[in-house]
Amino acid sequence: VLTKGQTGLRLRPGRLALRKIVDLADSVTAPHGLDQYIRMVRPTWSSIDVRARVARVVRNGEGSVTLTITPNGNWNGFVAGQYAEVTVEIDGVHHTRCYSMACSDRGGRRTIEFTVKAQPGGIVSNFLNQHARRGMLLMLSPPRGEFTLAPSSSERLVFISGGSGITPVLSMLRSLCDARWVGPITFLHYSTTMAMMPYSDVLSDLAARHENVTLVKVFTDQPGQGDLDGFLSHAQLDQVAPGWEDALIYVCGPAPLMASARAIADARGCATRVFTEAFTLTEFVAEAGSIGGSLHFSGSGVTVDNNGRGILEQAESAGLNPLFGCRMGICHTCTRKLDTGTVRNHVNGEVITGQDVEIRLCVNVPLGDVSIDL
Ligand code: FES
Repeated sequence: VLTKGQTGLRLRPGRLALRKIVDLADSVTAPHGLDQYIRMVRPTWSSIDVRARVARVVRNGEGSVTLTITPNGNWNGFVAGQYAEVTVEIDGVHHTRCYSMACSDRGGRRTIEFTVKAQPGGIVSNFLNQHARRGMLLMLSPPRGEFTLAPSSSERLVFISGGSGITPVLSMLRSLCDARWVGPITFLHYSTTMAMMPYSDVLSDLAARHENVTLVKVFTDQPGQGDLDGFLSHAQLDQVAPGWEDALIYVCGPAPLMASARAIADARGCATRVFTEAFTLTEFVAEAGSIGGSLHFSGSGVTVDNNGRGILEQAESAGLNPLFGCRMGICHTCTRKLDTGTVRNHVNGEVITGQDVEIRLCVNVPLGDVSIDL
């Protein structure tokens, strides 16, 4: 249940045989291929793609929607903490975004659960919040991501989440409970208000049924309403998870929460026991002194003045349509070659200079004159 790094699309023996038959049929039905014809009759069928139907839609009061979906036989399950790229067709155009599975990875081969929070200007998140319905068809990538558990049975665990970053760590907690994990687990969630906390009842129920699970709810805009007040601190961890320095600590949420967790652990000499996943990248604009030069897209012959924003965003503003998935440096879909110039990764600060070096457009900003193979 907890194998680290389980990724990629693998075909089971029956599917492999089917694939061979389909390859043969494809050559007969070219140029459209057999999949195209069968999909006219049965939309979720595919010999290789992961397609899924929405089986249940729950609209949560706080501007999010929880979808339970049933993938076709090409989905081989996932490991708690992973995400998938979800593709939705909106007005005839395919849009792809990354969402972490929120359910237990046990049984994750038959049904999957995502919760999608509506974002200001978010094309996919707003579409799903407003229009998701039972029977809707989605496409999925294979599960991706290395933010997964691999503890030995004696380790204590601390989960820290903020806002909609709750989903991958909730999946870990649900999977551990399903696997009858007996080690101590502290689950610390930060939300602005009680009403904005996703999965509050689910977490309370898990904590009530599993005596090794300690649940701590913090409502940062409502002092006195939660189990603690204020933001993540040494004192909070010492209070609710004594001995946390010896735990494995998994954090997912806004960048300041993750930075705080790393700094706190670093101060106690246990930074290597902290694992993080960002699912809420804040919009980035370079500081004024570093903005300048031009951004050239060599494949399309377009040049714009560098405005200090991410390269993906500047390319889109220039009318180009580069491929992207997560828009936060995780999926690598937007990777292109840097022809010349220097860029800086605004998530980890890494500066890259060079020729023919691969970079992710969504998390890099140009420093001076830059040319990208796009
Ligand atoms: S879009 Fe996913 S890494 Fe850039």
